Amino acid sequence: MVEIKVGLLGLGTVGSGVVKIIASHQDRLAHQIGCPVKVTKVLVQNPEKERDVAISPTLLTTDADEVINNEEIDVVIEVMGGVEQARQYILQALRNSKHVVTANKDLMALYGTELLAIAKEHQCDLFYEASVAGGIPILRSIVDGFSSDRITKMMGIVNGTTNFILTKMSNEGKAYEDVLKEAQDLGFAEADPSSDVEGLDAARKMTILATLGFSTNVELTDVKVKGITSITEEDLSYSRDLGYTMKLIGLAKRDGNKLEVSVEPTLLPNKHPLASVQNEFNAVYVYGEAVGETMFYGPGAGSLPTATAVVSDLVAVMKNMRLGVTGNSAVSPQYEKVLKEDNE
Ligand code: HSE
Repeated sequence: MVEIKVGLLGLGTVGSGVVKIIASHQDRLAHQIGCPVKVTKVLVQNPEKERDVAISPTLLTTDADEVINNEEIDVVIEVMGGVEQARQYILQALRNSKHVVTANKDLMALYGTELLAIAKEHQCDLFYEASVAGGIPILRSIVDGFSSDRITKMMGIVNGTTNFILTKMSNEGKAYEDVLKEAQDLGFAEADPSSDVEGLDAARKMTILATLGFSTNVELTDVKVKGITSITEEDLSYSRDLGYTMKLIGLAKRDGNKLEVSVEPTLLPNKHPLASVQNEFNAVYVYGEAVGETMFYGPGAGSLPTATAVVSDLVAVMKNMRLGVTGNSAVSPQYEKVLKEDNE
């Protein structure tokens, strides 16, 4: 391979981070994969918009065909968000035998099974590390890192907005509406913050985590969801006086042959490691039968943190391309099939 050509769908917060990391880590990427990586085309809504990333205007297009149907492009990175349009673009890219990296948790929670099957059919990689907990490399960790063990329970703070709100309400006695506004201004709340505060964003991430961690097919509708909209400052200070911290916890655990998955406000004893996860940070606590307790902590959102996960998926794709294989990573369709059979 002389050069890997990458097309981006979207140049918002995460897309800009991806372009920056590819540019600033060019030597490191080339060293790992054996050739340079080149961003070749980027789908944007408005090419005239001012951006905080250095990119040649000639690379920008408003025509998705120039990315997904572009014969030159080897890998498509979807960082545009939304569900239906993103799904159509990814399907088309896979049908054109392009590998795909996506950060889209909504899409993977709803259509992951379909997209992974199409990727497999076309012998393409479809990786989505950035879809859960932003910069924490949690998907590879729970699959690759626990491949010699059996996960019995996962507890996650996987939504930064609600953790920020609960932390500020609890520590600073601020009102819910004021802190939500702060989270929106800081840019980690979703465009429609109801999916954050009503627990749906966390539920989507738990769907993906539970599917991979327990090697089964968890549907979004299997997740019991309750958000934080009815929590008051008084509830939080009262629990704190009793030695507890309120967190929006995503829980996935084995109960006999059943898997229980939920997202709900939960009182944790102050000494529980998840109780000390503050502000917009995320953490996933994983219990393995052999290893016992582990915890993965870090930024769950933001431009560069999320982009690191996207670009590490890109590196995984490129290493596979060099070896002439697909699916040689934690979240591949082939892997899912083996695990499913193993589960039966
Ligand atoms: N709205 C999400 C959060 C962004 O607050 O965690 C990252 O998925």
